[in-house]
Amino acid sequence: MNDHGNGKDSQEVRAFAPATIANLGAGFDVLGLALEQPGDIVIAGRHSDGPPGITLEIRGDGGRLPLEPEQNTAGVAAMHLLRRFDSGASIHLKLIKGIPMAGGLGSSAGSAVAAAVAVNALFGARLRKEELVEACVAAEGVVSGFHADNVAAALLGGIIMVEEGGRQVRRLPVPGKLVCALAMPAVHLPTAVARKVLPREYPLHDVVTQTSNLAMLMSALYENDVERFAAGMVDVVAEPARSRLIPGFDAAKRAALDAGALGFIISGAGPSVCAICNRMRVARRAAEAMREAFIKAGVACSGLVARPSEQGAHVIEPGSKKSEEARWDRSPLATPPPPDHFGYSSR
Ligand code: HSE
Repeated sequence: MNDHGNGKDSQEVRAFAPATIANLGAGFDVLGLALEQPGDIVIAGRHSDGPPGITLEIRGDGGRLPLEPEQNTAGVAAMHLLRRFDSGASIHLKLIKGIPMAGGLGSSAGSAVAAAVAVNALFGARLRKEELVEACVAAEGVVSGFHADNVAAALLGGIIMVEEGGRQVRRLPVPGKLVCALAMPAVHLPTAVARKVLPREYPLHDVVTQTSNLAMLMSALYENDVERFAAGMVDVVAEPARSRLIPGFDAAKRAALDAGALGFIISGAGPSVCAICNRMRVARRAAEAMREAFIKAGVACSGLVARPSEQGAHVIEPGSKKSEEARWDRSPLATPPPPDHFGYSSR
């Protein structure tokens, strides 16, 4: 924590929260995985002479996210914590967006989590990470519905499982060889839309298939078996409906599997897709193959290769490598981003 600004009466903390892949195929609204990169950064400053409450500024969103704290996930999470701490402190948040918005990589969750971790640190880290889930889920609810898979993964890192509708979260083992190849097609697909297209009812055989796949996936985690993990990801609940909203989906899936990927899923609610790989070399090939497939289908696309983050959200030092590489387009393993049009909100 730094003294900052006017000196004696200001404090500043910065926190990083990673992008996340929700669902992991068969674990709809239940599983989530944190990536090392990209991520959002929040710099939270506490000023003794300011008005009580939260103020917000944002960089890296192209001017699309709302600056009113009650409409922005970073602001909502921070306000939630101030209420919890029964504090009338004056907090200024600077949100630096590194996670592409409305891309299916947990952008809104990342902002909420980075804000919660930073504000909690300003108050002497009174709460454990697990205790920050509630504030972050409330924040997610403002923009994309109440689900804890992204926020829990961003907070805790690794692979998480949501229990009891979000009241409990649990860390699961991460297969040692896992590498994720991501492709992010330039398709505007807000989570709310991707949730609306899901059927209300499912045939019994789909329920059995999904349950069996999820059981395979989960047991594979405890056996450190990335091949069975990938095989268990097959999603018969959300993918059939959502894949129709992603032009080039089938070609990208074929391309990833032909390039040697072990499995292929929609990342969260999409439109990003993720190829599951067990080698960095294969993952790079799969990312490039998916990108080419989308471009061939007439959709601009960028690609990224990332390993899981075991650490999850954390406080960072100013000027650290993490601060420099948090953005999707600055990661050493990313291909150039598509035209910047993924916003889900404007100002
Ligand atoms: N589990 C959520 C969904 C994640 O698939 O709708 C959204 O990022």
